[in-house]
Amino acid sequence: MSRVTVDGTAVEVAPGATILEAAEAAGHWVPTVCFDQRQAPFGACRVCMVAVAGSPKPLPACTTPCRDGMEIETEEATARRVSRAVVELVLSELPEPPAPHTELARVAARLGVTGSRWTGAVHAREDDLRHPYLALRHELCISCGRCVRACDEVQGAFALTATGRGFDANIAAGLDAGFEDSTCVSCGACADTCPTDAISEISLVAQLERS
Ligand code: SF4
Ligand code: FES
Repeated sequence: MSRVTVDGTAVEVAPGATILEAAEAAGHWVPTVCFDQRQAPFGACRVCMVAVAGSPKPLPACTTPCRDGMEIETEEATARRVSRAVVELVLSELPEPPAPHTELARVAARLGVTGSRWTGAVHAREDDLRHPYLALRHELCISCGRCVRACDEVQGAFALTATGRGFDANIAAGLDAGFEDSTCVSCGACADTCPTDAISEISLVAQLERS
């Protein structure tokens, strides 16, 4: 076991436990966007930054393992500034604010991020509504990779692929021909994990309206 402190609270964690797990054990919140506890940590978004005594820069909580004696601060000013800036940057690329119920919107609200100071390129709207149960709104994708990992690790369907890089990073179903022409089994794991509703389940009412 490793003994660490999180914002002054002492906790014991199992060998290999991450800072995020220690923070949860201590009852302290760390913002996350690309993390889903049902999946292996990916470390893509850099929203989960925390300060660790002795480290010259903030560290990502979801991928950094605890060391015995570690002193962790979840709300240290620099770490929090980085988390907020990353969320602002992500929001600046979306054509509309994420719906209030989404994980991204809730993380932004809890961090006190209400908009973005950056006004750069915004994703063009590109909605794929061909599948009867799953809507894919590419413009809301923040490339967190959660849907791809849910499809691969949880469902084993391998229907989704990460595409592009940087601003053009997105996801594709099958060979970009949509869910219907992929190995998708309509389990909904991708929609369930998506933090922005870029992939969402089409409601029964909407399905009836469309039929
Ligand atoms: S569709 Fe959703 S879960 Fe998949 S990479 Fe984009 S934002 Fe993440
Ligand atoms: S939640 Fe840790 S890097 Fe995304």
